[in-house]
Amino acid sequence: MNKSPRECLSLNMSKSKFTVTAALPYANGPLHLGHVAGVYLPADIFVRFLRMNDHDVAFICGSDEHGAAITLRAKKEGTTPKEIVDKYDAIIGKAFKDFEISFDIYHRTSAEIHHKTSQDFFLKLYEKGKFTEEVSEQYFDEEYQQFLADRYIVGECPKCQNPGAYGDQCEKCGTDLSPTELVNPTSTLSGKTPILKTTSHWYLPMGRHEEWLRDWIKEGTLDGVKQHEPKAWRNQVIGQCMSWIDGGLHSRAMTRDLDWGVKVPLPNAEGKVLYVWLDAPIGYISATKQWALDNQKNWEDYWTGDRKLIHFIGKDNIVFHAVIFPILLKDHGDLILPDNVPASEFLNLEGDKLSTSRNWAVWLHEYLQSYPDKADELKYVLTSIAPETKDSEFTWKEYQTRINSELADILGNFVNRALVLTQKYYGGLVPDMGKMTVEDQSVLNEMAAIPQRISKLIYAYKFREAQAEAMNLARLGNKYLADQEPWKVVKTDPERVKTIMHIALQITANLSIVLQPFLPETARKLSNFLNVHTADWNDAGRPDIVQAGTQTREPSILFPKIEDDIVTAEVEKLKSTVMTETTTTPQKEEVSFDDFSKMDIRLGTILEAEKVEKADKLLKLLVDTGLDKRTIVSGIAAHYAPEDVIGKTVSVLLNLAPRKIRGIESQGMILMAEDAEGNLSFMVPEKGFNAGGGIC
Ligand code: MF3
Ligand code: ZN
Repeated sequence: MNKSPRECLSLNMSKSKFTVTAALPYANGPLHLGHVAGVYLPADIFVRFLRMNDHDVAFICGSDEHGAAITLRAKKEGTTPKEIVDKYDAIIGKAFKDFEISFDIYHRTSAEIHHKTSQDFFLKLYEKGKFTEEVSEQYFDEEYQQFLADRYIVGECPKCQNPGAYGDQCEKCGTDLSPTELVNPTSTLSGKTPILKTTSHWYLPMGRHEEWLRDWIKEGTLDGVKQHEPKAWRNQVIGQCMSWIDGGLHSRAMTRDLDWGVKVPLPNAEGKVLYVWLDAPIGYISATKQWALDNQKNWEDYWTGDRKLIHFIGKDNIVFHAVIFPILLKDHGDLILPDNVPASEFLNLEGDKLSTSRNWAVWLHEYLQSYPDKADELKYVLTSIAPETKDSEFTWKEYQTRINSELADILGNFVNRALVLTQKYYGGLVPDMGKMTVEDQSVLNEMAAIPQRISKLIYAYKFREAQAEAMNLARLGNKYLADQEPWKVVKTDPERVKTIMHIALQITANLSIVLQPFLPETARKLSNFLNVHTADWNDAGRPDIVQAGTQTREPSILFPKIEDDIVTAEVEKLKSTVMTETTTTPQKEEVSFDDFSKMDIRLGTILEAEKVEKADKLLKLLVDTGLDKRTIVSGIAAHYAPEDVIGKTVSVLLNLAPRKIRGIESQGMILMAEDAEGNLSFMVPEKGFNAGGGIC
C-alpha cells in the first residue's frame, strides 16, 4: 500500500531498538491477576505495539528460582527447592503461554547459562574492586549448623509486639526489620534461639553512588550526557527512588550463607551463594543470551549501544530495578542502564488486598481453565482497571459490566452489525465506495486521528487510556451506523447504503489493527471475518484497508454476555477458599523423653461441676481419677455449662503442682484442644473408656 503524507505523520518515533523485560516471577506459587494487570499485560501490550511499528525488540522473562522464598516454600510443602521450582515454573510458563503473553523467551534462573552469567558478572565487579568484604555477626542455628536467612527467623516485632514478625519485615505493621531487632528471635528450622556467629560477605557499597544516581534519576543524565527523559518516568518511581537515596544508601550484602542459589565463584566461599536480588536481574541478561544462541543473534546487541532497556515491574521491585541494578550495571561498565522502569501500583480484589498466603486471589491458570476462550475478556478488563498510577480493584461484578456493556454492547455489536448487514445486502462482498457526505468525511477523519493518539499514549506507558482510545473507534462505528440507519435507507436509496457499509467495514478493518496490542485474539477474528491481514501499525487510520469486492465471512458472536450466576459463583469460590490469617507459633524448645514421662496423664470422669462465683471463665469440678476424687478448677465456663460436662471422661494431668485459683485449691489440669478460632474441646478417648486409665 502507498502511504499518503498523512500516514507518515503518525510515525512519531523512528525505528528504534528495545529490550523489554518483565519481572521474573518467583517460582514459588502461581500467578494471580495482580501480577498480570501490573506487569505482564502492560509489558505485552507495549511489545506488541513496538513490533507492529517494526522496532527491533527483545521481550525477556523467566522464572526467578532462588532465594529464601523458594526454600521456605519447599519446607512448608515438605519437599525440595528443586521440586518447587520445577512445579511452579511449569504452571507459570503454561499460564503465560495460554494467555498469549508474547515473550521472546521465558527462561529460568536455574539454567546453567544463568549460573555462569551471574558468576562472571560477580567476578567482573569483584576484580574491579566494586565490592567490599565485611565481617558481621549473623544468626546461626546450631542444631542445623547453618546461618539463617532473614525469613528463617521469627520473633517479636519491636514496634507492634506482633509475636510472628520475620527477620526482614513485620507483616502486621509493615515495618522493615533486620533480624537482630527482633525480640526473642527463634529459628524456624529448629525452633531454638539462634546464636550470633561471625561470617564474612561481599557488600555493595551503595553510598558512593548517591551522587550520580540523583542526576540520573532526576535529570536523566549520566556523566552529563542525556540518557532518558525523566518526565517519562512515573512519579511514584522517582519518588520512591529519591526517598531511598535521600535516606542515605547503605552497603548491602551481595552474598548469603545458603545452599540454594548461585555459588559465589571465589575460593574460600564454601556454603555461600549470590544474594537473590543480585542474580535475578542478571537473569534478564542470561535469558537474552539463551535466546540469542537459539536465534543466531548477538546478545550484546540487546544490552549495549543505542538500545532502550525497559523494565516492567510492580512497585515492590522499584529500588531493585531503579537503584541497585543500575549501580551494578554501571559498575560493570559495558552495559546500558534502563531507559524507563514503568512500575505499577497494586491491584486489590473484592474489597481486600490480594494475598497469596491467605489464598485471596484469582489465579491466572485457574481462570484460563474455567474460561479457556475468554483470555481477551480478562485482558480488556485488567487493562481498563490497570493500577498504573494508583492502587485499583478487581471485582467480578465489574468484570461482568465491562464485558457486557463495553465489549459486547459496543465492540461486539458494531462488528456484528457491519458484517451481518454486508451478508444480507451483498452476500458478504465488500460494496463499492460511492459519493461521500460531510458526515462520512468527518467519520473518516476521526478514524484517521485515533491511531496516533493511541501511539502517543502507549509510548507514554498509559495503557488504560490507550485501550480506551481503541474502543473509541468501535464507539465511532456504532454511532455512525445508528445515525445513518442503513437498515432504513436501504428501502429508499440502496446506492447510498453501499457507501455506508463500505465505511463501516473500513472501520472494522481498522479495529483489526488497533486492537492487536490489547486484544490479539479478537483482532485475529476480525481479520478473518474480513480477509484482511495487516500487522503494520502504519496502516491504521487508512480508509482503504479492505478492498471493494473482498469476500467477508459470516461473523460469530465475539463476546457472549456474562450471566449473573458466574459472578455469584466466582465470589462464592473466593470466599470459600480464603484462609484466615494465623500466626503460627514456632515449636517450643525440645524436651527429653524422661521429661515427658514425668507427666502423669490419666483419664478421669467428671462427677460434679459448678460455676466459680465472680469468675466467668471458671468451673469447679470434682473428678474421679481412678486413684482418688479431687477438685480441679478449669477455665472452660465460657464453652461449657456445668450440666454439659457431668459424666464426661476426659484427659487429666494429675501431677501438676497444686495451685490456688480464686481461693480454691486445684489439684491437676483438664487437657483441652483449641482450634484457630479459639473454640475448646475435651480430649476424650474415642471408645467409652472409664476413669483410671492412663495416657501412653
Ligand atoms: N521475583 C521477584 C518478585 O517476584 C522479581 C524479580 S525481578 C528480577 O518480586 F529482576 F530480579 F528478576
Ligand atoms: Zn510490627
